[in-house]
Amino acid sequence: MSARLSRRGFLGLLGGAVAVAALPACGSGATAGSTGEVMVSAVPLPEPFRVPLPVPPVARPVGVDGTGAQLYRVTQRVAEAEILPGLRTPILGYDGIFPGPTFETRRGRPVVVRYRNELPVPTVVHLHGGHTPAEHDGWPLDLVLPVDGTGDRAGHHGMVGDLAAGEREHRYPNDQRAATLWYHDHRMDFTGPAVYRGLAGFHIVRDEVEDALPLPRDERELPLMICDRAFAADGSFAYPGLDQGMRSLPGVEDDWMEGVLGDVVLVNGAPWPVHEVDAARYRLRLLNGSNARRYRLGLTVPAGPKVPWVQIGSDGGLLASPVEHKVIEIAPGERFDVVVDFSVLPVGTEVTMVNGLDGGSAGQVMRFRVVRAARDDSRVPERLAEIESLVPPAGAPQRTFRFARGAVGDHKGWTINGSSFDPNSSLADIRLGEIEVWRFVTDVHHPVHVHLDPFQVLRRGSEGPSDHDVGWKDTVDVRPAEVVEVAVRFSDHAGRFVLHCHNLEHEDMAMMATIRTV
Ligand code: C2O
Ligand code: CU
Repeated sequence: MSARLSRRGFLGLLGGAVAVAALPACGSGATAGSTGEVMVSAVPLPEPFRVPLPVPPVARPVGVDGTGAQLYRVTQRVAEAEILPGLRTPILGYDGIFPGPTFETRRGRPVVVRYRNELPVPTVVHLHGGHTPAEHDGWPLDLVLPVDGTGDRAGHHGMVGDLAAGEREHRYPNDQRAATLWYHDHRMDFTGPAVYRGLAGFHIVRDEVEDALPLPRDERELPLMICDRAFAADGSFAYPGLDQGMRSLPGVEDDWMEGVLGDVVLVNGAPWPVHEVDAARYRLRLLNGSNARRYRLGLTVPAGPKVPWVQIGSDGGLLASPVEHKVIEIAPGERFDVVVDFSVLPVGTEVTMVNGLDGGSAGQVMRFRVVRAARDDSRVPERLAEIESLVPPAGAPQRTFRFARGAVGDHKGWTINGSSFDPNSSLADIRLGEIEVWRFVTDVHHPVHVHLDPFQVLRRGSEGPSDHDVGWKDTVDVRPAEVVEVAVRFSDHAGRFVLHCHNLEHEDMAMMATIRTV
């Protein structure tokens, strides 16, 4: 245990004696394909496939405002959860739960969420994938200070945004296609530890296009938030942050510069859960909510070939037509909306979701147990939705964003085009309504995420888009020493937004840039 890690933080609320070990991940073979280091839990790991899959509760509106917007209230607070059987884990939770409540909303019907911060640290809420005006987007310095006034605003390099005391209202127009969005903390310098400790939830937008399709629904539609964590001896989440109290000193111990990987895989907050299913089609909304881990997801049965995934949607909603995959590679922040057909399997079959990128405990994700025959009227039509294709006109503006390790003063960090995050200077001023061509260039793996509007992948290396790049994306997995070219267009909402790496350790160590729409 390093001396730095032995400091107890968070007024003792969150434990914080992390006390574990780093295993090299990059190139070790055990976790090939993720940029990061594994933290090894200091507690015995539970048997997989024993805990039932939790489904987060749906948030209930508390009313309607004069404009017809649905009103919600969410309180961010410290709570305890039993994540590993028999152990108590302190969490930071939206309404005290992890994942937070799921928002179920309709296209064109705005929602207003009043977030109250009862945590001992400032927070920022961002709706990932939301087409949101700048002042509601969760600018990383627009802090909501703790309601009891105890939280200082130290840190953040003395930079200050729009501070709110205790509460802030976010208005989401929902003027966008049906899609799986998610909301999570986005506070400058401390997004990694905040999300790791529980500040994340789903926000599902629905619309008529989707309603008209015969896709699986109700209890045959499941949001699945996949993330990895490590646990300290006292049951708390082990995170190698330099400042366990999450107050002023950003970043993680040197060993974890590349990213924090855990040895326990959680789905909707439960370790390697199991879910009983009908022999029928299911729609699964896969979200990689991990800080740094990538997965190569497959569905295996004891005998026979892999069960295929039928992808129907991406980050930005339905695809034009379904795409079948044997495995799905998913990077932090990405979503894949898939249908799995359990009806072709005999009752009694156990279907295990595996991760081909890990040879150890993170090589398994969860299990489905086919328990009964059932009637199923669902199907996956060949035509799903209209997708406008973004064709850059001749002479479209071109920009290159280089994602690379770099020193920031005398701190180690991560940079975009050689600079660390500067809230006050824009790396790109973009005209609303214009299509541009952006090139993302990497040294190691970086999942690149752009706020405000989705984009389309034009090229990956010297090839066209891969079959994982289809549809509207807001996060794209850029592999080591790769160039990915995308077409972007911001339709409306002039203002200041960010683009950044969604490896949260990279993001906290400044791999973020300000962009401006004009
Ligand atoms: Cu999922 Cu800028 O974030
Ligand atoms: Cu990165």
